[in-house]
Amino acid sequence: MSKWWQETIAYEIYVNSFNDSNADGYGDLKGITQKLDHLAALRVGALWLTPVYPSPMVDNGYDISDYYDINPMYGTMSDMDELIYEASKRNIKIIMDLVTNHTSDQNQWFIKSRASKTGPYADYYIWRDPKEDGSAPNNWRSIFGESAWEYCEERGQYYLHTFAKEQPDLNWENITVREEVYKVANFWLDKGVGGFRLDAIPYIKKPSEFKDGIPDGVDGLSSIHKAIVNTHGILDFLREFKNRTVNGRDVFTVGEANGVPATELNEWVGSHGAFDMIFSFEHTTDDDTWYRINDITLSEVKRAISEAAIKTKDDGWYPIYFENHDKMRCNSHYFPENVDKKAASKVIATLLMTLRGTPFLYQGQELGMTNTEWNLLEANDLKTHLQYQKALDNGISIENAQKLINKYSRDNARTPMQWNATKNSGFTAGKPWLKINPNYTEINAEAEIKDPSSVLNTYIELINLRLGNPVFLSGDFEMLLPDDKDIFAFKRTLDEKAAIVVLNFSDKIQPLSTKLNSDMSNSLLNKKIGFSTHENPNKDSLHPLEARIYFD
Ligand code: GLC
Repeated sequence: MSKWWQETIAYEIYVNSFNDSNADGYGDLKGITQKLDHLAALRVGALWLTPVYPSPMVDNGYDISDYYDINPMYGTMSDMDELIYEASKRNIKIIMDLVTNHTSDQNQWFIKSRASKTGPYADYYIWRDPKEDGSAPNNWRSIFGESAWEYCEERGQYYLHTFAKEQPDLNWENITVREEVYKVANFWLDKGVGGFRLDAIPYIKKPSEFKDGIPDGVDGLSSIHKAIVNTHGILDFLREFKNRTVNGRDVFTVGEANGVPATELNEWVGSHGAFDMIFSFEHTTDDDTWYRINDITLSEVKRAISEAAIKTKDDGWYPIYFENHDKMRCNSHYFPENVDKKAASKVIATLLMTLRGTPFLYQGQELGMTNTEWNLLEANDLKTHLQYQKALDNGISIENAQKLINKYSRDNARTPMQWNATKNSGFTAGKPWLKINPNYTEINAEAEIKDPSSVLNTYIELINLRLGNPVFLSGDFEMLLPDDKDIFAFKRTLDEKAAIVVLNFSDKIQPLSTKLNSDMSNSLLNKKIGFSTHENPNKDSLHPLEARIYFD
């Protein structure tokens, strides 16, 4: 029997940028409540909100200063209760973003921890003495690019931060810290939320020794990711989290789990796993170091997706996503430069809605929103600033560093929602906190809902197709043409029913009849084309960026 979250559409809201109800330039909870009908039209059943807790906003909410309240710029606890209630009327459950690898340095726990080496909070964070020469305990580099250690005068010690220095890491080895985390989770579950997305989860357990890593940059530092990701024993913590919080409740958990290999998926998401799903990063460009980035190829994407499907075939489930608030827009991520972005968006729409797993849409993806251009003055994202500097330090020219931020800046996904063609895209009556993509006059929800060929209407059509066809919800997955570099094709099968999805990721015509072997072409080319993104699908070939589905 499937669970509700296996048969739903999930949607991520980047709260700052979704809808501003009070003209302060930032999105807020009331703004989300006002737009629930947009989400209901997409048949969304789970709504993941980026962190809405009080926060100094150094990392836009991923630095939490109080786990039990609502950030005043987003509203009040009663706005939250209203959102939970209004959403439930539309069968939508609210999913909270739980950030527990670290807090803000403004959190009371940290303020107390930094004040004394002996008090009850002394071991809430990861403190180490300096080396003899006063330098940091080791050479780890944080994910955002600086040393992962920050010196604290009051204690005469360094504290560890996997991300920004304003985000000190919690010490999960301390049982009192784990109890605090479970208390937070239960508080929100008791309020009626439908589950959690758990932020940065593979970093919560640190190795027993903090050795120097091999330097991998001109700064002499070494990636903390490699040193601490998925440390042996982490699953004991996570199973404890499960037992003490979500077990027995009709909710789901999805862990953000960069660095968990497909071979370990069963332990993470199988019937005895720690989570219901994890966001793997295997099918995305590894964007921790922009100056030496390698874009992911379609072959790698295919391999990662098919591996996850095979590993969880009999035990486990996973989420499907191609965008979130940390990635560039998918119509740039997975396609050659300068392709038709609207057509590319529809290829991803078809893939997202036909794969096995719960589809997670990211705000604006349903409109085909795109990357835009950035100069440093208008960029908000702290990672963008740090990575730009890192590129220059490593000898990259200003011009090329600029190209890097245009492509990889997390701000690309964070520009305000494009609701309509009026001033500020209908997002705010005030001054938007982040620049609005100038293409909002064409790419916006109001225009798209009236246009049958829009990305939005393509999504609605595909969502209806998915939710109306059990073959997409629970059918088996089989990769076709695994070695093809341009076509992503697969078969979904349930009992006697089958659907075949064929997607052309290239901007060239793809001759189907010659690419398929004779057995396959006989059976495929005579099947009924049940869906195509193009008006006149050609039996023997795919149009550039065509997505089609055959049914038996
Ligand atoms: C996760 C979030 C990202 C944040 C980081 C630190 O990766 O998705 O936005 O910056 O954790 O909390």
